[in-house]
Amino acid sequence: MLKKKRDVVQQLLRGRPAKAGKEAGAGRAWANIAMCKYWGKRNEELNLPVTSSLSVSLNGHGTETTLRVQSGGDEILLSGRPIAPASQFGRRVTGFLNLFRPDEKTFYRVETVNTVATAAGLASSASGFAALALAADDLHGWRLSERDLSILARLGSGSACRSIYDGFVEWHAGAEADGMDSFAEPLGIEWPDLRLGLIRVSTVPKTVSSRTAMKRTRRTSSLYGAWPVKVAHDMILLKEAIRAGDFETFGQVAESNSLAMHATMIGAWPPVLYWLPESVAVMRDIWDARAEGLDIYFTMDAGPNVKLLFLADEEAHVKQHFPGVDVVAPFAAPGG
Ligand code: PMV
Repeated sequence: MLKKKRDVVQQLLRGRPAKAGKEAGAGRAWANIAMCKYWGKRNEELNLPVTSSLSVSLNGHGTETTLRVQSGGDEILLSGRPIAPASQFGRRVTGFLNLFRPDEKTFYRVETVNTVATAAGLASSASGFAALALAADDLHGWRLSERDLSILARLGSGSACRSIYDGFVEWHAGAEADGMDSFAEPLGIEWPDLRLGLIRVSTVPKTVSSRTAMKRTRRTSSLYGAWPVKVAHDMILLKEAIRAGDFETFGQVAESNSLAMHATMIGAWPPVLYWLPESVAVMRDIWDARAEGLDIYFTMDAGPNVKLLFLADEEAHVKQHFPGVDVVAPFAAPGG
């Protein structure tokens, strides 16, 4: 039975080139925001989730990565700045490179640039590991299927498996111990009028990582038992709402799903609360605006920032109401 990340990668790469086939490989991936969240792992080594999840990729906001083979040691550049391999970020990246490094003498140079509006306060690990998986595939000439690329990206960061694709993406939880059935897949439905609004409340790094918070929630929160039941229901409702273009149901389910995820962690011990007073103020503001007729909902991840959900015809009102908002059109052409 497969257990370690490296075993999974060996299985994925069986019969594929071990060495780089060209000078440089490139990969680009967008960040994604879950409408039905991934919260809780059934296998912490392989980032296998307890439940399925559903996201939308943020067209134009993500990561571009170039990967090269070099001698002497790994080198990581983030927007041109060297990152110490011993730092937390550096260790995560070199740990991922170790999964496919052909021998101890092969080192890599990773140049990565986040195209996420830094002001938006978006987590970049999802787009980062998806872009790195794509760059590795390009460099070595593996030609992995998108499904296998999503499995590879998942080993870097769970939610990265969804960033392999644009638009709406479902990550199937799967049931196998080795996670070969835990992959992401696009829904294949577009919603051109859908808009996401990114409201930055704080860019201060979080004190509890999502990995730690998930583990703690699963182990200690008595509310966690209700979570997989809610997710199963929300996944059905969300897919139906997306197919029908029913924005009210879509927004309600996404907002409720996010609040329920936060409720499970507030119920953990020690409790995890990512919200700042400003996050709560934005939530109340959204509820007030909605009561006054603005068709707007929100979702929040493992941090204090708020992501608005609305349709194109409300964009002017939303910008008026939330002057600092950064609007993303997930189904427009990049840059358009
Ligand atoms: O993939 P991670 O370990 O960064 O976890 C992501 C967790 C959430 O963003 C809160 C939810 C999700 O589905 O993206």
